[in-house]
Amino acid sequence: MKESRTIRRLDEGTINRIAAGEVVERPASVVKELVENALDAGARRVAITIADGGMSLIVVEDDGEGMDAASLKLAIERHATSKLPLASDGTDDLTHIATLGFRGEALPSIGAVARLQILSRTKESAAHAVRIAAGAFEGPDPAGFLSAGQHGTRVEVRDLFFATPARLKFLKSSRAESLGVIDVAKRLAMARPDVSFVLTDDGRVVFSLAAEDSLFEGSLKRLAKLMGRDFADNAAPIAAEREHVKLTGFAGLPTYNRANGQSQFLFVNGRPVRDRVLLGAVKGAYADYLARDRHPAVALFLACDPEFVDVNVHPAKAEVRFRDSGLVRGLIVGALKAALHQESHRASSTLADAALSAFRVSGHAPANHLDRRFEPIQERFAGLSDSVRHYDATPLPMVTLAPAPQRDDSAHDHVHDHAHDHEHEHEQAAPLGAARAQLHETYIVAQTEDGIVIVDQHAAHERLVYERMKAALENGGVKRQSLLIPEVVELEESEAARLVARAEELAALGLVLESFGPGAVLVRETPALLGELDTKALIRDIADELAETESIASLKERLDHVSATLACHGSVRAGRRLNVEEMNALLREMESTPHSGQCNHGRPTYVALKLADIERLFGRR
Ligand SMILES: Nc1ncnc2c1ncn2[C@@H]1O[C@H](COP(=O)(O)OP(=O)(O)O)[C@@H](O)[C@H]1O
Ligand SMILES: [Mg+2]
Repeated sequence: MKESRTIRRLDEGTINRIAAGEVVERPASVVKELVENALDAGARRVAITIADGGMSLIVVEDDGEGMDAASLKLAIERHATSKLPLASDGTDDLTHIATLGFRGEALPSIGAVARLQILSRTKESAAHAVRIAAGAFEGPDPAGFLSAGQHGTRVEVRDLFFATPARLKFLKSSRAESLGVIDVAKRLAMARPDVSFVLTDDGRVVFSLAAEDSLFEGSLKRLAKLMGRDFADNAAPIAAEREHVKLTGFAGLPTYNRANGQSQFLFVNGRPVRDRVLLGAVKGAYADYLARDRHPAVALFLACDPEFVDVNVHPAKAEVRFRDSGLVRGLIVGALKAALHQESHRASSTLADAALSAFRVSGHAPANHLDRRFEPIQERFAGLSDSVRHYDATPLPMVTLAPAPQRDDSAHDHVHDHAHDHEHEHEQAAPLGAARAQLHETYIVAQTEDGIVIVDQHAAHERLVYERMKAALENGGVKRQSLLIPEVVELEESEAARLVARAEELAALGLVLESFGPGAVLVRETPALLGELDTKALIRDIADELAETESIASLKERLDHVSATLACHGSVRAGRRLNVEEMNALLREMESTPHSGQCNHGRPTYVALKLADIERLFGRR
């Protein structure tokens, strides 16, 4: 059979089904379009109800301005919208979009693939209903909906994709679709704390949120309700501006990290987006603090002139284009880094709580007595971090990095420690206290005036080395040491090439290497700071890092990345025995080093327990 090559115009129904393929992917996309319409109509209250993950029923009801009979008829026609402003020459203006919708595609698309009914009423008009199923219209007909003087709209979508069975097959379980709907509804509710939202899923109220008033406070309250109290307790506020682009929101502490990017909520002019530029900027800002497979929790709201951003790049409007994406990236990275720096000594309260609750085995201590036990030390640190800045220029006390001499006379150490107890009295007044013992060759236990501090020596040391390397880098380079025998490291050809291309930057970090044929590099010098190290492992890690971050990270971030990798390799391993002087030196250096509350992978470097709480644990109080 010969294929027909005649060009013909598609019928309206087919066009709508094709458009629906882009706009209506799953129940969550229907909910998104309907709630956006409600918000564009000026609703103060939005109620969303779904059944069966939204597959059998989605209802969105609002108290917005509503539609009269004529508008209802137009609303379900393709490319009919009340939202696109007209430019002065009478053409449609796509550069000043201030609404969430503007394409005039959602309702006809939904009507092409499902059974859609819309009931609406304006302040002046009587209520009417329209229906479309698989593209066939009915109405507008007078309907019983609300009473005279009231206004609003109720949109019901039944049997999604009944008209396109192929699409139906791609839907997941109703549980998975429910989660998709909840995520979309959550993001819209975060964007508009001033609107009340109720979401009901198979008869269960998922959230019911009252409208909040003041913008910044209200936004935090709304976020706390949707992301959990924990987030609010472990987040730093953000407020920054660059050339009329405003950024506000909250940045989760690095220690409050997540296994995936689901807790990153980004908004541009009140529109929830999943934009690559923005997500990349967030990743870059946290790169110093988090392992590659961990993700921060953030809620960031960008506000700018609508002309500065093009929202018409994606049918579902999830991505945007900025006129100057470098500026936006710089604003986000700068603001997040500044906020994290401010909070650098604060380890996540959730982690500390979790650590302490592990002690609560005997059940003597009621949970409420233990709440907020870490605040005093955090407050002391908060005060301290101001003074730390003044010391930045002075050299830090160095913790010895040479491999520890093997000690077999631990008895001697023990005696020595006690003999010097009185000398360490002044240390006890310091925030991290006086070192008293090392346990399992990994944890330093210190006594403070009102409690005890447990430090993970590897995590702490890694952070210190890293900060020191960054400081050295800023002051013009890291000291190097030549290897007695230059080391050849075999790699993939592209990896070797990538490393060689960065040879100059790496040399500034103290790592001198050169090309050694196609799949290898020759390492001649390493950072003196690191002492003896496994050169091969280090080179491979840097190669991996370069492969991953090359395209998205700026030069400085890339260097910081490399420093983080170098630092990890050069840190005191868990398992090395330290003497009291070394331990105290480590504690003092932590106190005077920014960001020392967590290691480069976002784990805390220490936990502090107050004496009062320890006493409670033993039922002494
Ligand atoms: N909940 C609602 N309340 C009032 N008017 C609505 C509502 N939903 C849709 N409309 C009207 O129907 C039109 C078409 O909606 P839609 O197909 O989603 O396209 P868009 O939102 O892009 O304009 C809107 O422009 C608006 O005038
Ligand atoms: Mg719309």
